Order: sequence, then C-alpha cells, then structure tokens
Amino acid sequence: MANQDDQFKKVISHAKEYGYVFQSSEIYDGLSAVYDYAQNGVELKKNIRDYWWKAMVQMHENIVGIDAAIFMHPTTWKASGHIDAFNDPLIDNKDSKKRYRADVLIEDYCAKIENKIDKEVAKAAKRFGDDFNKEEFLSTNGRVVGYKEKIDNILARMGKSLENEDLADVKALIDELEIADPLTGSKNWTEVKQFNLMFGTKIGASADTAMDLYLRPETAQGIFVNFLNVQKSGRMKIPFGIAQTGKAFRNEIVARQFIFRMREFEQMEMQFFVKPGTQKEWYEQWKETRLKWHLSLGMGEENYRFHDHDKLAHYADAAADIEFKFPFGFKELEGIHSRTDFDLSQHEKFSGKKLQYFDHEENKSYVPYVVETSIGLDRMFLAVFSNSLVEEELENNTTRTVLKLPAVLAPVKAAILPLVKKDGLPEVARKIVEDLKWDFNVVYDEKDAVGRRYRRQDANGTPFCITVDHDTLEDNMVTIRHRDTMEQTRVKIEDLRNIIKQEVDVRTWLMKM
Ligand code: GAP
Repeated sequence: MANQDDQFKKVISHAKEYGYVFQSSEIYDGLSAVYDYAQNGVELKKNIRDYWWKAMVQMHENIVGIDAAIFMHPTTWKASGHIDAFNDPLIDNKDSKKRYRADVLIEDYCAKIENKIDKEVAKAAKRFGDDFNKEEFLSTNGRVVGYKEKIDNILARMGKSLENEDLADVKALIDELEIADPLTGSKNWTEVKQFNLMFGTKIGASADTAMDLYLRPETAQGIFVNFLNVQKSGRMKIPFGIAQTGKAFRNEIVARQFIFRMREFEQMEMQFFVKPGTQKEWYEQWKETRLKWHLSLGMGEENYRFHDHDKLAHYADAAADIEFKFPFGFKELEGIHSRTDFDLSQHEKFSGKKLQYFDHEENKSYVPYVVETSIGLDRMFLAVFSNSLVEEELENNTTRTVLKLPAVLAPVKAAILPLVKKDGLPEVARKIVEDLKWDFNVVYDEKDAVGRRYRRQDANGTPFCITVDHDTLEDNMVTIRHRDTMEQTRVKIEDLRNIIKQEVDVRTWLMKM
C-alpha cells in the first residue's frame, strides 16, 4: 500500500514539476477536486481527445459529433432522473466532522480484504515458483475463498440496501463491520443521508425572473435532446451514433484522488441509437471496440479488465466498466451502458414532443434503444500519465526518470538541440524547428549540457531529441535519439519529417485496433 501511495505521490509531483497539472487557484490554497491543465497537460489532453474523436467520429461513417451547451433547460434533469436520483449516500463522523460517501467507506473496507488476497497470492507464487497456477489457487485456497465470500456478501448487501433506499441498513453495515473514520479512527457516525450531486445556478438578471439551472452532470443529455435534430439534418439511418466531448460538473464528496475524481471534469461520450431488440449485440460490439481502442495505445493488456455490473440502474439492461490499473488499484476508466429507450422516452414524456425514428425497412416508427460509451478525459489522462512514468536503472548504475507516453499522445514530439551555443549550430537548429513546427509541436533547447537536456526531455515525455553538431554543417545530417531505447542514429535533415511522422501519426496507432 505504501508503495502504491509513493508511486501516486510521484505522479502528482511530476505532473506539477513538468507543467502538466496544477491545483486550481493554488495561490489561494487551491480549490478541492478542481485542477488546471498546464502547458504540457493541455497538449496531452487535446491529443487524447483528438485520438478518441478520430476513432469514434471520423473513422465511422455513421457517427457524427455535436457540441451542446453546458446549460440546459432545467426540465432536462427532471426527465433524466438526475433531480430525483443523482445522489450519493453520505455519512458524517461526529468526532472528526468529516463527511464521507457511505458506499465508498464500505468499498474501501472490501479493498483492504482484496489486498489480503493479493498478499496470499504473492506468497503462494513465491512458494510454488513456476508451478503456480493463480486461477486454481484463487478458487481452492480456503482462506482466499473465505475472503472472497466475505467481499461478495458485503457488496451484495450494500447493493440491495442502496437499491431499496434502505439507508438505515447501510449504516447498520458500517457499524457491523466496525468501519472507522480513516483519518481519526473514530466510529461515532451519523445516520446515512442522500445528497444530490448537481451544482445549481441561476440564469437571468432579476431575482423574480431568474430561472434555476444546473451545470450538466453528464454530457449525454445534450445528445438525447438533439437526437431528432441531428437525425433529420444529417439524414442519419439507424444504427447511428452522436458523440461529444465536454465539461461536466458533480459536487463530489470523496475528492482526494487527484484528477481521478473531480468536481469539474471532461467527458467523451457517444450514444449509439439502435433498433429495439438489437441492443445486446451492439453492447457487446461496443465493449470490444472500446477495449481495442485502449489496447491500441500499448499500455499493457494486463492493466485493463471488464467489470460487469450486477446491480443495474433502473434504465439499463446491461452495463460494464473498463477498469484500469491506476497507482491505487483497478478502478473505473470507462462505462459502456445499454440504456434501453429510457432517456428518449422520458424526454418525449416531459417535452410533449415525439422523439421517434421512422424505419423505412420496417415501415414503422419507434423510440430507438441506446448503447452508450462514456469515458472521463481526465481519468484517461491520469491512466496514460501514471502508466508512463517510470524510473529506469541504467547500465552505469544511474537511474533516469522517463515519461514513456505513447508517442501519438506526447505533448512535444521532438526537441531540437544544438550541441553548443555557437559556431552556427543554433542557426541550423532553429531552421529545423521552423520547418518541423508546421507538422508537429516541437521545442528548441540550448541550455545545459546535452546529456542533461536529454534527461529533461525524457522526463517531459518527448519521444525524439534531434541534435545538431559540427558535422551537421558539413553533411546536413543530425543525430536522432529515441526516448524509450535511448538509441541514437544519424539521419538526413530532410528525412526528419517522415521519421517523426511514422511514429507519431494517429494512423500508425489506430491501425493497431
Ligand atoms: N453518461 C453516463 C455517465 O456519465 P458515469 O459512469 O457517471 O456515466 C462516465 O461517468 C465516466 O466519466 C466515468 O467512467 C469516468 O471516467 C468519468 N467520471 C465520472 N465522474 C467523474 C469525476 N467526478 N471526475 C472525473 N471523471 C469522472
């Protein structure tokens, strides 16, 4: 656990030191669970968004994008169920006065049991060596099976109580498990209460005419209310999808995991409208497609897993998360939900407008079913950033910190370095920058010895360093150094563009899907 914490702390401090993520309004001591993206962070975030947009919108003839407003008519949220049911169960500790999500306290308790299982597995793997069969061990070892049963029972009971709005039983479970305040150890808890996560605001100038509004807690509803406009103006035929990326806001209570859980964050969502009855096939297909998208970035197949939901939201007939191994364990990165016709039907009911599709093949109208893919951009940022940050032992007994970002996502693609600040080398380097900047985000760096500049660019995640030396003046060739292998080769200046393009091009990466 300490190691996980250390690794996570390193991620957060590296993100600050190298201009990726800053605490919002830091000079005023920050704002909890709100973050700003800095000069490198904004590029990485944009590249992730573009990578998603290319794969989801531009590579699909039947998916189009929109950019709906953050403010929406307040009835939207009545129809969607967010006013009545977008709640978290909260509990206060009477001694520490700290507030927690009751379900998270219980889940954290289960995560501790999960850690015990991991320890048993690690011990057994050491004992049995190459003969160790993890699957068999997990299903036969008495202690591990006991732990697993305990977790299953706790989560099943919590799920049922939450579903039945039986908050007294959630409190009883916390008492029975003797869960203590993680900060103080106190077990002096209040009752569990529901708390709505939407931020309210007002539109309009005068107090009597002002209208209560909400900052959208998901981008999806902007797609649902525009379904018919897009379908008609784009002459879209079912099955088709509408995608969008944009800000969403949630008054999260447990907000202590950096950009994993934020109060202002960005989503990348796609609603795929299908014929009723075909939703299961599409759901399976989108699960597979989305996992392939993740795997195309080469961040290790072992770092992803599906978590199929047992407890479904009232509007869903199937749901799964793609979980990623963050520094603090496997957690939800993306959700894939089969949302039936719930949202469109609700908007029909509340708006009094028909939101139906006329199917020429079937010669009838119906409310389409929806399969949704929904990923948090900031969470994806954290997945990429934390997975890429490594400390490497080098042959000469030194270490280097390197941010092995997938080259397609790296903020800066190449750093151009004159070996020395004289003899006409800076001029040649500047000329290379002037040429390459039309195609890539590149930087010029002449400060410090070249070895230190390499290390700086490694830690910054820059895939290529291009060094101009005295020979360059004679032969028009430069040394190109690859971040991950540290391999250096001599290439012609005129070939640089193609060499870099080959490695950073979206096509090269998405082709792996
Ligand atoms: N439209 C469906 C929807 O919003 P969700 O599971 O609540 O579903 C989808 O959110 C994704 O948005 C999550 O998988 C996660 O990546 C991201 N997300 C949700 N809440 C977040 C938060 N507070 N901070 C950062 N990302 C968040």
